[in-house]
Amino acid sequence: MRWTDTHCHLNHEQLLPEWEAVLFRAQQSGVERLIIIGYDLPSSERAVHLAEQSPALWATVGIHPNDATQCTPDTLARLHALSLHPRVVAIGEIGLDFYRDLSPREAQYEAFHAQLTLAQERGLPVVIHCREAYDPLLDVLEQYPRVRGVLHCFSGTGAHAERGLALGYYLGIGGVVTFKNAESLRAIVQAMPHDRLLLETDAPYLAPHPYRGKRNEPAYLPLIAQSVASLWNLSLQELSALTEANVNALMPQTALQKPESR
Ligand code: NI
Repeated sequence: MRWTDTHCHLNHEQLLPEWEAVLFRAQQSGVERLIIIGYDLPSSERAVHLAEQSPALWATVGIHPNDATQCTPDTLARLHALSLHPRVVAIGEIGLDFYRDLSPREAQYEAFHAQLTLAQERGLPVVIHCREAYDPLLDVLEQYPRVRGVLHCFSGTGAHAERGLALGYYLGIGGVVTFKNAESLRAIVQAMPHDRLLLETDAPYLAPHPYRGKRNEPAYLPLIAQSVASLWNLSLQELSALTEANVNALMPQTALQKPESR
């Protein structure tokens, strides 16, 4: 069985110093593809650099809403240049964060629009970060009908999920689905279409049960898969086939060097 961690931060200081060991443990768990998510310019550059080191690794580039004020014309030009790299498969993580509100909302909107425009120009999907801003965020996504992507670490309501799915977005499901108090998320996952779910760890954050609160790693992805498989009444083999096909559909470059085999 093979899995893809569609959202991890091997480029984060908690994982970067031992990224080779982290990758090795992931591969031992069947996690054969890892998509490393940028969140500011330096981390985007590190993601691309890591993706050059192994055929298992891919990168995204983008400015997180918490750092929206860094999204200057110079930064955008650099992101555009990075997005041309053959190992870059999406723009992200980008979005709106009204929970931490670390950047003025005006700057968040400006950075979000600029990076959605970049994704549209480049024909790349987007990796969306959203905290307590689903309604305004979905209003923005509606303005870019040609852009597709994933609502990473989905934490909205059933109505938000329906709206995102109707726009063609995938839901990124991670460790939270294994938490005792996540009944509402599990109900959403149970009801959602099987061809729209992407598995992710968000490592080093949000470790699944029984590692909750500890440093997360891509090697824990199968614990998340187990939760989803039981919600859907599927075997792990069946879930693996479904979720691998979903990754290939949204990020087709990642499938090129690793043709499906049995
Ligand atoms: Ni993340």
